[in-house]
Amino acid sequence: MTKNAEGYKKTTRIVHGAAKTPRWDYAHHVVPPLTASTTFRLESVQRAARGFSEFGQYRGELDEAPVYIYDRLEEPTRGLLESQLASMEGADSCLTFASGMAAVSAALGCLLRTGDEVLAHTLLYGCTHSLFTSWYPKLGVKVRRADFTDPKAVARAVNSRTRALYFESPVNPTLDLVDLRSIAEIVTQANKRRKRRLYSVIDNTFATPFCQRPLEHGIDLAVHSLTKNIGGFGTEVGGAVCCSKEVFPELAMYRKDFGGILSPKAAWNILVYGVPTIPLRIKRQQYSALQVAQYLEKHPMVAMVRYPGLDSFPQRALALKQMRDFDGGFAPGNMIYFRLDERKVSGVKFVDHVAQNAYCVTLAVSLGHTKTLIEMPSAMTHSAYAGEGPMRERGGIRLSIGLESPVDIIKDLEASLKAVDKRR
Ligand SMILES: Cc1ncc(COP(=O)(O)O)c(C=O)c1O
Repeated sequence: MTKNAEGYKKTTRIVHGAAKTPRWDYAHHVVPPLTASTTFRLESVQRAARGFSEFGQYRGELDEAPVYIYDRLEEPTRGLLESQLASMEGADSCLTFASGMAAVSAALGCLLRTGDEVLAHTLLYGCTHSLFTSWYPKLGVKVRRADFTDPKAVARAVNSRTRALYFESPVNPTLDLVDLRSIAEIVTQANKRRKRRLYSVIDNTFATPFCQRPLEHGIDLAVHSLTKNIGGFGTEVGGAVCCSKEVFPELAMYRKDFGGILSPKAAWNILVYGVPTIPLRIKRQQYSALQVAQYLEKHPMVAMVRYPGLDSFPQRALALKQMRDFDGGFAPGNMIYFRLDERKVSGVKFVDHVAQNAYCVTLAVSLGHTKTLIEMPSAMTHSAYAGEGPMRERGGIRLSIGLESPVDIIKDLEASLKAVDKRR
């Protein structure tokens, strides 16, 4: 029996997925099985040859089963997760990878050649910055920077060598937003005048497809670290790239040859536990994030708080426009960035106090976890900037709100603020 998901809400469809398609028949399982076969029986050389020749072609919703050959090429558990992620993002297709960084490298790696340039926002996740500064020069790919919060500056900086516009929104860790439609329009205009296409690539990790679907705003590729909110429980490392059917073949070939696949066991956990619970987790985390951000905003020892859900957020109108959940509700996410007034309290001392005393706020990198995590990007996730450029101003603190009661998160922050208050 093939059940039709049409007409059902995304929140419902991500719980059920497509149990029976020409690619797999799991209609008798309430939970899809975890497949663990590195290689597949091929029946005849002719069928095997067909599988190899068809691999990497975009086949959309297949009307017949693909020829599964080898785990690194295509695999059903991973395939189920990919079809769920593509549907969440509103993309033609999705490919998963071993980590978020493997996804970032693949999204750009399949587009770029030696001599191409990437135009990237000034501030990016530290390892993406490090990829661009330590490795791309060795490959003959130049990465130039522009302020993507100013679309005019981006338009001015694009030249005939620019092959990709690369950015995050919200930006890690400052939560600045990039106007997705303006970036898509720059790409559309530029492509009227060139043979080799320009692409826009967003790292949508902070928002997740629940809070923001960039492809619906005209962005070409959306990259995710599945390690974060999509996995959601802090047990799996993974990445994904959502893209159009035109990009899919190159990306599939890239993954086959560079080999950074997501293991089916990790895919299964993300599929069974992470994906169906995204709306539930993020709605709860957003509710708490707003309480925590409002608490911090009123606190005399806090110099600045950034949370897209706050009325005072400098890009509030843009947040309201592009950060929307599956049902159209405002979805500002679960990340907060703030800075203490260093005349009154030392940021490092505060975070150390939290690390050593708080029960429900944990000093750790990563984000989008069931547990609330705190970190200091200039010294940790963004240390690749070595305190320069956009990370010149040290002392900013990043909070990823978890599933605890907001009352308790605030209790822990309050206790540490009191304990390290220099005026006491
Ligand atoms: C915005 C963003 N993109 C990509 C990554 C890399 O993801 P992973 O650790 O899964 O490789 C991270 C990791 O923190 C991140 O914060």
